Amino acid sequence: MCGITGYIGRQDAAPYLLGALKKLEYRGYDSSGLALLHDGELIVRKAKGRISVLEERLMSEQLPFMANIGIAHTRWATHGEPSDLNSHPHTDSEGRIAVVHNGIIENYLDLKKWLQARDVVFASDTDTEVIAHLLNYYYKAREGKFFEAVLDALARLEGSYAIAILCTDYPDRIIAARKDSPLIIGLGEGENFLASDAPAFIQYTREALFLNDGELVVLYNDHVDLFTNTGEKLLRDTTHIEWDAESAEKGGYPHFMLKEIHEQPKALNDTYKKFDEIKLNDWLKGDGSPIERIIITACGTAWHAAMVGKRAFEALARIPVDVEIASEFRYGNPVIKSGDRVIVISQSGETADTLAAMRLAKEKQLPILAITNVLGSTLAREAISNGGSVIYTLAGPEIAVASTKAFTTQLMCLYLLAIKLGVLNKTISDSDYSTYRNELAQIPEKAALLLKQQEVIQKFAALQFNKDKVFFMGRQFDYAVSLEAALKLKEISYTHSESFAAGELKHGPIALVDTRTLVVAIATQRPLFEKLVSNIKEVAARGAATLLITFANKGKTNYDEVADSVFIIPDTIDTFSPMLSIIPAQLFAYYCSIQKGNDPDKPRNLAKSVTVE
Ligand code: AGP
Repeated sequence: MCGITGYIGRQDAAPYLLGALKKLEYRGYDSSGLALLHDGELIVRKAKGRISVLEERLMSEQLPFMANIGIAHTRWATHGEPSDLNSHPHTDSEGRIAVVHNGIIENYLDLKKWLQARDVVFASDTDTEVIAHLLNYYYKAREGKFFEAVLDALARLEGSYAIAILCTDYPDRIIAARKDSPLIIGLGEGENFLASDAPAFIQYTREALFLNDGELVVLYNDHVDLFTNTGEKLLRDTTHIEWDAESAEKGGYPHFMLKEIHEQPKALNDTYKKFDEIKLNDWLKGDGSPIERIIITACGTAWHAAMVGKRAFEALARIPVDVEIASEFRYGNPVIKSGDRVIVISQSGETADTLAAMRLAKEKQLPILAITNVLGSTLAREAISNGGSVIYTLAGPEIAVASTKAFTTQLMCLYLLAIKLGVLNKTISDSDYSTYRNELAQIPEKAALLLKQQEVIQKFAALQFNKDKVFFMGRQFDYAVSLEAALKLKEISYTHSESFAAGELKHGPIALVDTRTLVVAIATQRPLFEKLVSNIKEVAARGAATLLITFANKGKTNYDEVADSVFIIPDTIDTFSPMLSIIPAQLFAYYCSIQKGNDPDKPRNLAKSVTVE
C-alpha cells in the first residue's frame, strides 16, 4: 500500500529515486512523484499512472541541476482518486515542506477542519496533505525548529504512517517516522537511504536500520540519528540484509511472477535445509502445557497456506487446528484454553490485519509462532519481542503482487513443523519421520521437473483464457489448494473464478455451470479420486470444459475418458501434493493474464503489502 523512499548524499538523487520507485512499484502503481531540494527550493514532480510516466516527464524536462537530497512515492490510492493532484509528495501552502506518506491518517477530517479554520487551503483530496499543513503550522509555532515541529505534528496524527519530510530551510537532512507502516533506513558511505522495503536500496548498501513504531529518524549524508517520538535519542544495532541485488531483478524473465514461479525449487530447497536451525522451544513449551490446539491466522494466500497446514497438523500430529482469517480474528472474542498455540503467517510480515491478529493473540497471552519471508519485518520483530518464535521462509524477495514462492515455502515450513510435532506427540514413528523427511527433501526436485512441462499449461491457457467463469474444486488438501488456485486466477486475469469443496458443488454452485465455464479438478488424494471423477462428470454433463490435475495413472482409469484435459504432477505422498499441485494453477493464472494483455506483476486495484485495513 504505497511505497516511499528517500536519498541524501553526494550523488544525483533523482536517478536513485526513480530506480527505487521501480523496485517499490509492487506496493502501489496508480501514480507517483518525487520532491528534490536544490538551492533552497523544492522541486516537485508528480504524475498519474505508472512510474514510467513520471520518468518520461522528467526525461523530457531534463532538470538543469543535480539535487543531492530528495524523497519519492508510489501510490495505491486510499483517499482521493488517482490523479496528478492527489499524487505525493504533498506540500504546505508556502512550498517549504514536502511529505511522502504510506498509511492512513484516520483523523484527517478533524485535522482538515481544524486547519481550514486557520485559513489553510487544500489542494488535494488526500489524508496526507494534512500532514504537510500541520507541519507548516507547528514550524511557525516553533519559530522554525524543524525537529520540534515534526514531533508536535506527529503527536496529532491518528492512524498509520511511514513518512519522509523535506524542509527548504534544512537542506542537509530528511526526517522520517513510522507508526504501523514499514520503514527501513539503508546506511551507505557518505549517503543514506530510506524506503518502505529493502530492495529499493540493496544495490547501494545492505546495512540496514529497522525503525520500530513510534520512532523517528533524521538522515544526514554522513550519519543518521534515531529518536523516540518524544525526542529521546536511541541507539540501535544495524542489520545486514542477505538478499542480493539480483534477486530483486527480473533476471531475463518477462515478469517477476514467472521468475518467482521458477524460483520455487530453490526456495523450497533453501527453506527445507534451514528448518532444523530454527529454535522453536519457546513456542513448543508455551505455558508449560502440551499443545491441545493450534490457531492459525493469516490473510489471502497465507490464509490458504494455513488451510493446508490445518490438514497437515491434523493428519500428521493429530492436533486440532482452527484457521481464522486475520481480519476476522482481530475483531473476534476467541475462546482460549491452556494448551493453545498460535501461528501467524505473512509473506511480508507487514499486513495490517495479520499484525492486529498477532497483537490480539499476544493480549490473550498465547504463545506465538510467526512464519514470514521478510527479515526484520514488524511481524518477526514483534513476535520475538513478545517471547515468541519466528520461522523464516527462504523464498527471497517476492516482488510480483500474486504470491507464488511464498506460498509453497510456507507449506514446506508447515509440513516440517507438522512432522516434528507428530514425533513429539508420538503420532508418527521415527521411521515414518525419516520417510516423510526424505519425501519433503525431494519436493524441490519434483517441482523443477514439473516446471519443465510449463508449455502444456501455456497452450491450455491459450485455449481457455476467455472462459466467463473458472471453478476449481477438490477435496481435503486439494480443496485448500483450489482456494489458492482460484485466488491466483482472479487476481491477475480478472476472470471470475471460485473454489469449491467438490462435495459442495451439488448443494448450489452447480447451478452456475454452463458451456462458458471451465472446471479445474485437483485430485491428488488417492482414496477420494473416484469421488472427483463423479464430480467432473456432473459438471461436464452441464457443458463445462474440464481439466484434471492429478498424479500419473497406475493403469486403472483412462484419464481421457474422465476430463477434456489432464495435467500430471510428479508423484509424492498425497499429503504433500499441495506444494506441487498449485504450480500448474500458478502457471495457468500467469498465462491467462498474458493472453488477456494484463500486467501479471501489477494487477489492477491490488498492492503487494496491505498495510492498511
Ligand atoms: C496473494 O497473491 C495476494 N496478493 C494476497 O492475498 C496476500 O497473500 C495477502 O495480502 C497477505 O499478504 P502477506 O502474506 O504479506 O501477509
